[in-house]
Amino acid sequence: MNPLRGRVEWVRWLMGRYRPEDRRVLEDVVLQRYRRNPNFARILFVGVAGYVRHYPRMFAEQTFVTIDPSLRRAPFGGRWHIRDRVENLGAYFAPSYFDAVVMNGVIGWGLNDLPAVERAITVCHQHLRSGGELLLSTDADKPCHGQLAQVRALSSGFVPAPLPTLGTPQYTTHVPWHEKSEHVFLFFQKRSPLA
Ligand SMILES: C[S@@+](CC[C@H](N)C(=O)[O-])C[C@H]1O[C@@H](n2cnc3c(N)ncnc32)[C@H](O)[C@@H]1O
Repeated sequence: MNPLRGRVEWVRWLMGRYRPEDRRVLEDVVLQRYRRNPNFARILFVGVAGYVRHYPRMFAEQTFVTIDPSLRRAPFGGRWHIRDRVENLGAYFAPSYFDAVVMNGVIGWGLNDLPAVERAITVCHQHLRSGGELLLSTDADKPCHGQLAQVRALSSGFVPAPLPTLGTPQYTTHVPWHEKSEHVFLFFQKRSPLA
């Protein structure tokens, strides 16, 4: 692999002069669907970082909860930030509390095997209302990519749901500085209690 691959874009992104395709889709399509949308008054955003620090401000009129176990990253959370793993959500919220869960860049970045993903998705299912939406992503160079069909909580409790703006439940983008550049978004809607 070329060690300089995507480095220019990466530095330009850190300087705020470039957005990779995955970030454009997340910010301009996914988050825009939920922003100021009365059907999505309560949103859970899983995992924070410096480059998402402005997201809570985009949702100032909604309940936008962030969760991440990292102490170092806690300053990037919003007004309602929880320093914990998403698997422990039940300690803080009642079942069916959220209208949408956005879990971008967490599978393969902390949730690194299928049992861990199964636990996290099960908890998200418990805390989404019926008809609530779940956004996931995987990266081609990270664990669990292409394996989510094996996650029982997903196949039994959700249906793939085309995001209206994109017209598809699965959308592939490219991140120039990843060794294998595909970053895949997967959209789901909660349909039923888990069997
Ligand atoms: C690559 S960053 C992604 C940040 C953000 N979600 C985004 O859209 O870019 C991954 C973050 O997920 C957090 N994370 C990893 N496992 C987690 C878990 N089980 N629950 C909540 N956050 C987790 C990490 O601490 C890290 O800050």
